[in-house]
Formats: sequence, C-alpha cells, structure tokens
Amino acid sequence: MTRAGAILLEEIMRRGPITFRRFMDVALYHPECGYYRQARDVFGRGGDYYTAEQIQPVFGILIAARIRRLHEEAGRPADFTVVELGAGRGEMAEAFSGFRYVPLEIGAGEWPARFTGVVFSNEFFDALPVDVAARRGGVFLQMLVGWREGRFAWVEGPPVPDEQAEYLARFGAAVEEGAWVEINLDALRWLDEISAHLERGWVFTIDYGYTARELAGFPRGTLMSYRRHAAGEDVLADPGERDITAHVCFTALQDRGASLGLETVRFENLSRTLLDAGEPDGFAEALAAASPHEALRRRLQLKTLLAGMGEIFRTLIQRRA
Ligand SMILES: C[S@@+](CC[C@H](N)C(=O)[O-])C[C@H]1O[C@@H](n2cnc3c(N)ncnc32)[C@H](O)[C@@H]1O
Repeated sequence: MTRAGAILLEEIMRRGPITFRRFMDVALYHPECGYYRQARDVFGRGGDYYTAEQIQPVFGILIAARIRRLHEEAGRPADFTVVELGAGRGEMAEAFSGFRYVPLEIGAGEWPARFTGVVFSNEFFDALPVDVAARRGGVFLQMLVGWREGRFAWVEGPPVPDEQAEYLARFGAAVEEGAWVEINLDALRWLDEISAHLERGWVFTIDYGYTARELAGFPRGTLMSYRRHAAGEDVLADPGERDITAHVCFTALQDRGASLGLETVRFENLSRTLLDAGEPDGFAEALAAASPHEALRRRLQLKTLLAGMGEIFRTLIQRRA
C-alpha cells in the first residue's frame, strides 16, 4: 500500500466512501506523499510522461512568438507580464525571458497584484482534482471511492450537490444514461482568480479536452492514469505513484470566462496555433541551428509537435480588452 493509499484508506474506514475529488487531491497533491510533491522527476524519459513543454527549444520559440504577436496587438506596452500556471520544471523560462515571467507552482511564485499580459498554461487544468458523476434515471449520482476486497473501488453515492448539479445542467446535456462525467469546479475557480489579477490581456490555455457537445463521445468519462509512459484507466490503483488526469471541458472555461468579461478569440488545435506562430518567418527562428545534428533534432521536434501533439491538444485564447 502506498503512503497516500494508507491516508485515503484510513479516511474511508473512518467516514465511509469519499469523493473522487478528495482521492485525486491526496493522490496528486498531499504535501508529503502526493504524486506532484515527490523528489522523483515525473517528467521526461525517466519519468512517466512527456508534455509539449519539454519539446524545447521549438515549442518555447513558437509559443513565445505567438505571445509577441499578442504583445504587438496590445500596442507593445512596456510592462507586459506572462504568468504561467502549473509551470512544472520551468521549461518555458528561457522562451519567456523576453517578458516579465512569473511561474506559479504549488508553494512557489505569487500572482502580480494586477497586470497586463498573458496567463499561459500547458496541461494545468487537466491536473486539477475533479468530482465524478454517473447519469442514472435522468439524475446525476456521485461516484465515490470506497474499499472493497482489498482495493479502492467505485461506489455509487447520492445525487450530486447543488453546485455540481448546476455545472451539469449547463455542460452535461450530452451525457447519456449510464455514462460517467467529470466535474471540474476548480477550473472555474481558477478562472475567477485569473480574472481578479488580469487587468488587460489574454488567457492562453493549452490542454486536451472536449466541448460540451463532444461529451457524448466519452461514455466512461475521461480519467486517465500515467506511469512510466503507459496510459491506463485504473485511476484508483497506487495513489501517489501515478499521474491522474481528466480532459478539460473547454465550454465550461469559455462560459465562465464570458461571464467574467473574457471573450473567446481563438479555439483551435495546437497545430493551428503553432503554424500561425511559425509561418510568418517560415519557421526560421524555430529551426535555426548551429549544427546539422541540432537542425535535425529541431525538425523532428517540429514534426512531433505539429503531427502528434498538435492534433490532440487544443488551444483556447480568451481576451480581456
Ligand atoms: C501536468 S503538469 C504540467 C507541467 C508543465 N506545465 C508542463 O507542461 O510540463 C501540471 C502541473 O500543475 C501544477 N499544479 C497543480 N495544481 C496547482 C496549483 N494549485 N497551483 C500551482 N500549480 C499547480 C502541478 O504541480 C504540475 O506541475
């Protein structure tokens, strides 16, 4: 049993089944034994998964070029800040060094009080703890986590609380009878927080996810676990030792954004974003290399980004004018 597992089991024995949000929060973020709090490097070849941010320098150069265009659109203000949510290993630090760059991680970095610029994130929203529900007889029931036959197991609970029911009334219409769905209230709270700090500028979000209409394509929900580059669906196994993600509902981000005065200006595949960033100079900056080996490496990076990740990930750009 993992240390996070022991903490969760003790809680279940004491109080009965717990929410998946609680399970995911301890599994990923418990200060002593959460997945994202361990000393082991979870990213890259020796870790559990790659993100686009690790495909440096090409990803950084292209995203920085796209953000320079936003800076120009804003009339090139001298004070232009890029805040990054969930900056991880700080892979974007070099690419964003031309701006005032503020990386935020758990327990590190602080929001500038009010600023003009961009709130950037890559695979941040998919790492936030979510609740899970299943549609039964037209009602959404909570899917809780209990303990059965020596392992963590899903347990059907009572109807979802009001705030989750409201979320599902807005975004869950496409969920069919018997299907599961995740509810990411934390994502909405993060947009509130972004809105409180961003005076003028853009929210630039890269992640995988769906629109409310596309939800019908995920009858078992979208939870995934990652360990040593193998994706799995058993998100209840080995808490603390594997990553857990849930696809992002982009409609929910757009809807909450609109209510806060953040207008959607782009919603597209990541490959579209990267093409727009690189096409003005024919990808010259991204592919400029000092040696033939480096030139080849960069061309391969561009290919991975455009053809692989670029088709899976999406970019949402919201603007406060
Ligand atoms: C999937 S990783 C992505 C890291 C990086 N952006 C990348 O693309 O490689 C998600 C990151 O979000 C961070 N994170 C999660 N919740 C957070 C919070 N409340 N505040 C700041 N960072 C958070 C995690 O610690 C983790 O580093």
